[in-house]
Amino acid sequence: MRIDIVTIFPEYFGPASGVGGPLGVSLIGKAAARGDVAFHIHDLRQWATDVHHTVDDTPFGGGPGMVMKADVWGAALGAILSDESRSPANPSTPPAATASTSSVEPSTASSAADALATQRSIGDSATSSASPAGPSTALSAGEPSTVSVPSAGSAAPSTPAVPPVTTARLVVPTPSGVPFSQERALAYAGERHLVFACGRYEGIDARVVEDARARGMTVDEVSIGDYVLAGGEAAVVVIVEAVCRLLPGVLGNERSVSDDSFGGGGGSMHGLLEGPVYTRPRAWRGHEVPPVLLSGDHAAIARWQRDEALRRTAERRPDLIRRLAAGDGLDARDRAVLIQAGFPVDGESMAH
Ligand code: 6GU
Repeated sequence: MRIDIVTIFPEYFGPASGVGGPLGVSLIGKAAARGDVAFHIHDLRQWATDVHHTVDDTPFGGGPGMVMKADVWGAALGAILSDESRSPANPSTPPAATASTSSVEPSTASSAADALATQRSIGDSATSSASPAGPSTALSAGEPSTVSVPSAGSAAPSTPAVPPVTTARLVVPTPSGVPFSQERALAYAGERHLVFACGRYEGIDARVVEDARARGMTVDEVSIGDYVLAGGEAAVVVIVEAVCRLLPGVLGNERSVSDDSFGGGGGSMHGLLEGPVYTRPRAWRGHEVPPVLLSGDHAAIARWQRDEALRRTAERRPDLIRRLAAGDGLDARDRAVLIQAGFPVDGESMAH
């Protein structure tokens, strides 16, 4: 998977070496080292056209703060998506006959060194030798483009099918977005190319999303919770971590994905918060491990774990219990456990 991140704070994602930042650590770092994911961090200011590298302006209609400019974002996304056609994220692109050293960075970059410094690749050994673009069908700054979807079998065998405008999915983190969820993380883990557009200030001119959609791109405005961050960068780290641990081979233990809280694999804990966990010693400061976990009775252990998950979820996230009840996710035993713990599960009292 290829992941592009556009930000006015590229240093947020780590030093120029590409190691030491949050994307170089632990599961994500190992996935990048293996080549399962390749990160490209871009400094948005590279696409600003004035001497001050301005990326924002005052909002039409008045109000506080500043809005990020559509033209700067349009140029950035156009450059990144035209670069996609020669990246490993799009293996269907036929290799071109001639070599090219074209960069995703704009020609206004003051030097090749600048461009290299701002378009860092982490764990992506393939892009430097990737074949150059053929005829560009990606979003292109300032030019109209059309979406052409050829019908199967209509093209002559020697005519290459016209690819869609881009296969990338654009993710714009914003507190006014749709909620990010485990379900959405699973969907993203199935993508070949994600592009994150980090907004700062009061957000990005709405026409950037409108224009990308009009060009056939899938665009999601996504929130990671009901609070306001200063910018999308921290949200991108959260989303990338949730997605990368779902990539094949990253977790190393497929079972633990479906047993997660919010596990998407339909495991026994689906829709429930995970209960408490224990390891040695059996007694610590006078606190004993629940005896059932030492019993060796796997059915009894599984039942106890589900009961604990039900009690914890009812206490901390009653909304999840209501969702399970409405979706027929609670059996008679589950309901008995919840009632015994003091949580009503009948239709009447759960209506609110
Ligand atoms: Cl995705 N971005 C920002 N800036 N603030 C947030 C958020 C995202 N999710 C919650 N608050």
